[in-house]
Amino acid sequence: MSLVPPSAAARARSRVQSPQEYETLLARSLDDPDGFWRDQASALTWFHAPANIVEDDGHGEVTWFSGGRLNASVNAVDRHARTHPDRAAIIGAAPDGTLTTWTFAELKARVGRIANALVHRGVRRGDRVVVYMPTTPQAAAVMLACSRIGAVHVVVNPAYSAETLRERIEDVGAELIVTADAAPWDRQVLPLKRRVDQAVAGLSQVRCVLVDRHQAVPVSMTAGRDHWLQTELQRHRVACPAVWQPAEAPLFIMHTSGSTGAARGMVHTTAGYLVWACTTFRYLFDLRPGDVHLCTADLGWITGHTYALYGPLTAGITTVLVEGHPGRPDRGRLGALIDAVQATTLYTAPAVLRCMRAAGDAVLARSLRTSLRVLGSVGERLEPDLWQWLHQEVGGGRCPIVDTWWQTETGGAMLANLPGALPARPGYVGRPMFGVRPVLLDRDGRRIEGEGSGVLAIAGTWPGQARTLYGDHAAYLATYHPHPGLFVTGDGAHRDAEGYFAITGRVDDVLTVGGHRLGPAELEDTLCAHDAVLEAAVVATALPDGGEQITVFIVPAPWATTPADDLRAALVEQLRLAIGPIATPGRVWFVSGLPRTRTGKLLRRVLRHLCDGGTRPSDDDLADIADPSVVDEILEVIQPDRLRQRAD
Ligand code: WT7
Repeated sequence: MSLVPPSAAARARSRVQSPQEYETLLARSLDDPDGFWRDQASALTWFHAPANIVEDDGHGEVTWFSGGRLNASVNAVDRHARTHPDRAAIIGAAPDGTLTTWTFAELKARVGRIANALVHRGVRRGDRVVVYMPTTPQAAAVMLACSRIGAVHVVVNPAYSAETLRERIEDVGAELIVTADAAPWDRQVLPLKRRVDQAVAGLSQVRCVLVDRHQAVPVSMTAGRDHWLQTELQRHRVACPAVWQPAEAPLFIMHTSGSTGAARGMVHTTAGYLVWACTTFRYLFDLRPGDVHLCTADLGWITGHTYALYGPLTAGITTVLVEGHPGRPDRGRLGALIDAVQATTLYTAPAVLRCMRAAGDAVLARSLRTSLRVLGSVGERLEPDLWQWLHQEVGGGRCPIVDTWWQTETGGAMLANLPGALPARPGYVGRPMFGVRPVLLDRDGRRIEGEGSGVLAIAGTWPGQARTLYGDHAAYLATYHPHPGLFVTGDGAHRDAEGYFAITGRVDDVLTVGGHRLGPAELEDTLCAHDAVLEAAVVATALPDGGEQITVFIVPAPWATTPADDLRAALVEQLRLAIGPIATPGRVWFVSGLPRTRTGKLLRRVLRHLCDGGTRPSDDDLADIADPSVVDEILEVIQPDRLRQRAD
């Protein structure tokens, strides 16, 4: 066995000290990608070092580090268990304030046992395992156990419904599911096992369900199919040999939303993703030995995968996992947690920060937060006044703020204001991460040079790029590679004279709510399934505090007799049941028609424009709309909100 140990030099280089150093490193990463990424890859432990660094045909066929072999769990756990077994690997923060700490040595043993249990239940290399669990150390161990045996984890956020869960189980053809009896969430208890039962009813592909006894609530167990995880683990040894995966072997699939209703399972690879997670993590947070990293994301989102699990653990840093809502049951929860674990780096989303800010200064003053050194944000725009609040009130004016732009598809941060390297600019997500060539395109797909606004695309490739959409490579190419040599992001952006980027929002109709993406079609299909609904349109609209809410327009069926308030309540419930609490709309309006083109295409941008306080479009602009009178009706219906918006 030719184990290639990580090079100390590569691991120490995690800090950029000055703008000049940033420019030098960026230039090197772009001019000599082979050299740059060979260095970065040497921070990992390989069974075989890669033969090639990157191959890219310019049309969406990409490989990174081919010829190399490695295992993600060995990189995240074993090598640290060998060098510093007693260092905390994971601190699990339960909603009731309880902390559970697992050292690297303990984590290794737990991962090994679970991996053996999975093998015993028939999981083989390449099999997809669906994980439907709260964000606990146990869930992290299940993910790492999958990667240990070369199985592909497919984590579904516990906030998603049985219906969404079933779609994803079917999409990836999973035969085994790991879940928990139930999970606490924002004053409720989510019945995870019951939802799994509903999701797999009649699905013969699912042979086995392993259930983590987490809340000790009664659940029904189907003989022959369901087994308690705890009982399984007692039967297995801690030692489990790691499967040495080829570089391009899939590590996990993470679903995301697009404009159409179909689930998109983005496939991330073992080597490229891991090198990207580790490299970006170290540069983003200016790491030092002994750091404690607190990322508030659920493991069921890509942020949880990259910056709560693989990034920190691969870099050997203690990671704090937050179970449930970071601002519930008490809005002072996050501040108290920062103090309790002495977090040095905090990575969170504007939605969480707004919730903290709304709780008021007195709640914030209950914590000290003096351990914090770097503050990071992701998921949606960190508007300048929230930036200032974060900087002054949360960080006491001491901590650099790293706003990061990326997507499920990119695997890790692509644009960021690296702490120490670049002067901060509130409202901007900064400059490219090493190895990233952002470009702006005009409406015709032509590149815009210098200062300007357009659609954000990435030229070439980077290691963390998702390679395909599970089971539909043609759709992957059509969606992301309409132009040769470019990956198209779906976001609009502005670049200023110094090369700083600001994200202006999605150019398609995909909603970003609370920092997460939802496809309008998923919600509209659910609404139209109701008898009383003829047509539905869903858009994200601005809230006065800088956030966004889901706004729904319903054209009731002519035969509908349900009173409006009852129908509204029923539709909200239907969305929550079919998609999950994240799909709860802020507004449901009833109208007699929707703005459509003459060919029947729904013009969601017109709805957004009107809801966000925009003026009535001119007659010229209305020419596209088959029946312009719907615009006047909509303006009248939403008038109360528009008045309120102007008052703010
Ligand atoms: C979309 C990606 C990446 C993990 C979290 C969400 C929006 C992301 C920012 C930011 C403004 C942002 C974009 C992007 N977004 N970060 N810093 N500023 N907008 O992952 O669910 O794949 O959503 O979130 O619109 O395309 P995702």
